[in-house]
Amino acid sequence: MDKLVIEGGVELQGDVKIAGAKNAALPLMAAAVLAEGKSVISNMPQLADVRTMGRVLAQLGVKVEGEGEVYALDATSITSDTAPYELVKTMRASFYTLGALVGRLGRAKVSLPGGCAWGPRPVDIHIKGLEALGAKVELEGGYIIADGAKLRGNRFVLGFPSVGATVNILLAAVAAEGESMLDNVAREPEITALVRMLNQMGARIDGAGTGTLRIQGGLPLHATDVAVIPDRIEAGTYLAAAGLAGGDVTLRGADPEHLTMILAKAAEAGLRITVTTDGIRVQKNGGMRPVDVETAVYPGFATDMQAQWIALMTGAEGSSFITDTIYPDRFTHVAELVRLGARVTMKENVARVTGPSALTGAPVMSTDLRASASLVIAGLAAKGTTEISRIYHLDRGYENLEAKLTALGARVRRERD
Ligand code: EPU
Repeated sequence: MDKLVIEGGVELQGDVKIAGAKNAALPLMAAAVLAEGKSVISNMPQLADVRTMGRVLAQLGVKVEGEGEVYALDATSITSDTAPYELVKTMRASFYTLGALVGRLGRAKVSLPGGCAWGPRPVDIHIKGLEALGAKVELEGGYIIADGAKLRGNRFVLGFPSVGATVNILLAAVAAEGESMLDNVAREPEITALVRMLNQMGARIDGAGTGTLRIQGGLPLHATDVAVIPDRIEAGTYLAAAGLAGGDVTLRGADPEHLTMILAKAAEAGLRITVTTDGIRVQKNGGMRPVDVETAVYPGFATDMQAQWIALMTGAEGSSFITDTIYPDRFTHVAELVRLGARVTMKENVARVTGPSALTGAPVMSTDLRASASLVIAGLAAKGTTEISRIYHLDRGYENLEAKLTALGARVRRERD
């Protein structure tokens, strides 16, 4: 198993190219299943999760040609309605094949994804939404078996604006005869990107970016070409790294529209943020102020930036409170950050960070993707050597991490354990 070795204490300087967003790429890949023909998706991030999704789709019969940043997905012939446990357990987003297969074939057998390192992640809203469209859904042997041969448009209110449920219900709703109104849907930019692709494929969906989607279902769909939007969480992660380690970094290609809350909080903390023609420049000059955050659905503060924000706040003068309302148990990074010298205490879903801390390198362990990112940020700022083990978590969501950090001047290398 690989580990990442960081010699910390070096300021970061230069440009980093922000990759396509993992969480946008995965639903776009699933959407390609809906129509015959070859869809071409560009600006794909080169990540383990994207490759896993490619394997899931290939298993369904999609011809997957992935080369660098461009993936061609030919879904002319879908030969299987099953997404097996072995694949789904490694990546929750493969559960998007549920909506895609119900939409394309009228049936699906998809393994339940199960829990996560930081707790349960239910899929009840996904199921209720498909049922509202007329699908019959059963659980058998750990698999969701959906029969959606006669899907009809309907009105459905999501109990919570879940990103994944919005994706799955939408993929089925475009195939359901008649009009659907989905209320309380997720408003994340990744959903807007999915709607754009589906409309390009021939669907008629209004309301992207709002809480209500109106869908004229049952229209013929065809393959299309799209580009993945930039990864706002990768951008936010490099912002936090520059903020804690210090320096002057331009996040090339990042979309400031998708980062309004994070940029506002970073500016409040005292980082200098400048939106340039090709990205966002982050400069640290002087100390940082503590800034509280509470995670919320978009456009609120992303839970996927919570761990990185805790790392950043270890460098601020005073106490900050970081609350996760989306995933109250998503704090496995705290104990590892404490090993690096962070002063963080937990009370339920609230972390109190007291800084500034003089972090020092130590061996630490990755527990999930964003937790690992927070350890990298802390390691970059820490004096001495930090060894982060189990970095396969990082490979799921950060493209060319060592190369990008090295180009910014960091001393980072990958070693085999
Ligand atoms: N929820 C339910 N029932 C459901 C679905 C969700 O109660 O049927 C609850 C969850 O328990 C949670 C909340 O709704 O409290 C939000 O979950 P959501 O469904 O929106 O999350 P997700 O679709 O499973 C995506 C991202 C996550 C990100 C969350 C929240 C992808 C592939 N994953 O997950 O990203 O944390 O939205 O923004 O898009 C990551 O990239 O590191 C990551 C975990």
